[in-house]
Amino acid sequence: AAEISDDLTDILVTEEQIREKLSEVAAQVAVDYDGKDLLLVGVLKGAVMVMADFARALPMHAPMDWMAVSSYGTSTKSSGVVQIRKDLDTDLHDKHVLIVEDIIDSGLTLHWLLENFASRGAASIEIFSLLRKPDAAKVEVPCKYVGFDIPNDFVVGYGLDYAERYRNLRDVAVLAPHVYA
Ligand code: PRP
Ligand code: MN
Ligand code: MG
Repeated sequence: AAEISDDLTDILVTEEQIREKLSEVAAQVAVDYDGKDLLLVGVLKGAVMVMADFARALPMHAPMDWMAVSSYGTSTKSSGVVQIRKDLDTDLHDKHVLIVEDIIDSGLTLHWLLENFASRGAASIEIFSLLRKPDAAKVEVPCKYVGFDIPNDFVVGYGLDYAERYRNLRDVAVLAPHVYA
């Protein structure tokens, strides 16, 4: 029978490496946001796994809200056209917002989101992205906390999908070209 592992080439980041990185970043965020009114904003759907594990690594109150935006559809390339599928429930006024993302690829999603958030009265807005692809950047995004810089391959797992599949993999892996060719 066909196995999911047949669709993958290299494992880029393991479950264990992710766990260690999340606890490092959480320790830094706990220091940086000490005494501040922190709000985590997860970007659905990719950030679900990062948010779940990162929030539980934080030794402080960390309310979470969610924005659902999508720019990829079923393609492997960002369209650059970002759609809001679900807006925040929370008023950002005076909140210290930390956007939680799975990956910065072209940067278009977060560039758009930062502009969208800019007029909502937050006390501060920063980004934590578990992954970033420096070689894929079309626009520079100021990202305060980065987990791993990775090569410009199409990666899946730990929230990242191809056509809604592979989000439930525990590791981050490179998708074999035969899957999307
Ligand atoms: C993916 C990923 C990031 C974004 C990064 O989301 O989760 O949110 O693309 O790409 P960019 O830097 O080129 O904009 P996607 O639009 O696929 O939606 P999803 O999170 O629901 O999978
Ligand atoms: Mn996403
Ligand atoms: Mg996607």
